Amino acid sequence: MKFFLDTADLDEIAEAASWGALAGVTTNPTLYARIGGKLEHFHDHIKRICEIVGPDCPVSAETVAMERKEMVEDGKRLAALAPNVVVKIPTMVEGLAATRELADEGIRVNMTLCFTVPQAILAARSGARYVSPFIGRFDDISEDGIAQVEDIVDALGNYDFRENTVNGEQIEVIAASIRSANHVTQCALMGADIATVPFGVLKKMVSHPLTEKGIESFLNDWEKVK
Ligand code: G3P
Repeated sequence: MKFFLDTADLDEIAEAASWGALAGVTTNPTLYARIGGKLEHFHDHIKRICEIVGPDCPVSAETVAMERKEMVEDGKRLAALAPNVVVKIPTMVEGLAATRELADEGIRVNMTLCFTVPQAILAARSGARYVSPFIGRFDDISEDGIAQVEDIVDALGNYDFRENTVNGEQIEVIAASIRSANHVTQCALMGADIATVPFGVLKKMVSHPLTEKGIESFLNDWEKVK
């Protein structure tokens, strides 16, 4: 399993990147607004994220266009910012059409706001490089977000979508809208390819009270050795 950071905060991205386990970044309009981002700085901000994480880490930048022509134009502008930009597009008819066009031009798409198996299969068929089922938001409406991601992982695993994605790459499932380290555990057990996590969850993934207690007792005992 790979870990992406779900944030637009440059300090969080730089810190997480320094830990050595970061494989990508996902952003969305809400995350950019949350850090006080402004429209006129959006492209520079995405470029800066790409510089911080380096060319091997995909960085998802979302279009807010709602029609395929505008989505494709916006997607091309976003993809031109850096080689590792992935265009994030919502799962909807216009989004599927735009994804096919962008994929045919070699531009990677992360199809987001995915909540069902049929949506995920359509995303894969349209050429999406990544599909992002949301866990927390599905739980929020009293559905089972984890079960839905598991179904999507199983369903996509039944087929080979390499011919439909950019450069013959296999589509990967990004478990998104993750709210806890336990969500990450469950996604890893079911074989989700990627978990995109907020920085707060990433920090919780590292720590455990017994680890902290163990470090403390080792340090105390080492004092006796001196
Ligand atoms: O990448 C988008 C997704 O992770 C959003 O999460 O917490 O806003 O449902 P959340």
